[in-house]
Amino acid sequence: MNERPTEALKGFSKLSKEQKLDWLLSHYSTHPGATRSMLVGYWHSSQEVQKLHDEFIENTLTNFYMPFGVAPNFKINGQVYAIPMAIEESSVVAAAAKAANFWFDRGGFKASVVSMTKVGHVHFIWPGGDPAWLAAVFAQTEQRFMADTEELTRNMRARGGGILGLELKDKTDAEPGYYQLEVRFDTRDSMGANFINSCLEQIAKTWIQAVDEQRDERPEITVIMSILSNFTPECRVRAEVQCAVDEINEGSGIGNQEFADKFVRALRIATVEPYRAVTHNKGIMNGIDAVVMATGNDFRAIEACAHAFAASQGSYRSLTHAEVAGGKFRFWIDIPMSLGTVGGITSLHPLVKFSHELLGNPSAEELMKIIAVAGLAQNFSAVRSLITSGIQKGHMKMHLLNILNQLEATEEEKAQIVEHFKDKVVSFSAAVDAFFKLRGISPEK
Ligand code: MEV
Repeated sequence: MNERPTEALKGFSKLSKEQKLDWLLSHYSTHPGATRSMLVGYWHSSQEVQKLHDEFIENTLTNFYMPFGVAPNFKINGQVYAIPMAIEESSVVAAAAKAANFWFDRGGFKASVVSMTKVGHVHFIWPGGDPAWLAAVFAQTEQRFMADTEELTRNMRARGGGILGLELKDKTDAEPGYYQLEVRFDTRDSMGANFINSCLEQIAKTWIQAVDEQRDERPEITVIMSILSNFTPECRVRAEVQCAVDEINEGSGIGNQEFADKFVRALRIATVEPYRAVTHNKGIMNGIDAVVMATGNDFRAIEACAHAFAASQGSYRSLTHAEVAGGKFRFWIDIPMSLGTVGGITSLHPLVKFSHELLGNPSAEELMKIIAVAGLAQNFSAVRSLITSGIQKGHMKMHLLNILNQLEATEEEKAQIVEHFKDKVVSFSAAVDAFFKLRGISPEK
């Protein structure tokens, strides 16, 4: 066993990749040679591509692989897409593809973007106690905010975006002396985090100056921070499907009306019961995150925003909704989502570039629609299974190969066991039993 370090190693980030590996493996690995080969085995064969990956973050040792799959046959607003998905969970792509096929024959998905507006804040403290004076200074400074950010916003304005407006918000009821400048942005096809943050930092400087110039004996403002908000409730997309109740349920063992009623009831439960809502929304995010990852977007931002939105009416609720009315089944999602199709790693990561190409190099608005559809489709498949066969049937079938790989089954054994489970329910113990039986080992051994 190697000795773990007892002192901090200063300047680790300055070491070469080889030196980092040497140091780490000598201290943290029980089999440094084998571990090194494994890590190096994940390096890209092209030095150029590997260098790109090395430079995405600090202290890169190797690459972390995830399966990259595709769910074809998504008809969205009349166009047919093959949706790229990067995800490790066995059943996600299969579930998306199944829902895509199901809805393909029922008119496909319709999606529309409500708005693309994003927000950021200069959070500041002013103990002056005279909000009317502050509001007057703000009103006089509005043009100056725009002028001082002109340089920063030039390119964005040329693309049709920029700063949409500013507002001074009095938050002193929530926190003594707390105010905000809330700034609204349109960042077109970029996610816009750097653009927004740069503008906010300039706006904060302008604001400090403007207040200083006029405050006389009044106290100065203290800017606490200037940062975009990942909560973008206005940057929102809706996706939906609908069909006659008579067409809703093919081959899942229960009648159409019963299926529709159970589905709506399941959605109601996910609306009134947070324990269910969290799992329900997690299923939606299975689809959303997979496409967000594949297209090089920030899944943490998307997740944080989605859950804040799900809780925005006072309790945590389903992001999807369903109704049966006039013989029609309708199912939809409303979700805020701040995405980019330019900037970030979108033009750098080869697989991300491929994802965008696969989707026809969509605008951010189009990508919002595609990703909302992926979430809706995922949720449809999950709820469909839950209210009919139960989730484990399909899930464990997809997970079977993971179990067999854990058991180090050969390709031939895998094929035979998969065949064996074609008409049987998979469980971990049933898979292990089948494996032992095939190898002629009695389970006790
Ligand atoms: C599993 O990753 C996701 C589900 O639990 C979602 C759901 O329950 O709706 C199947």
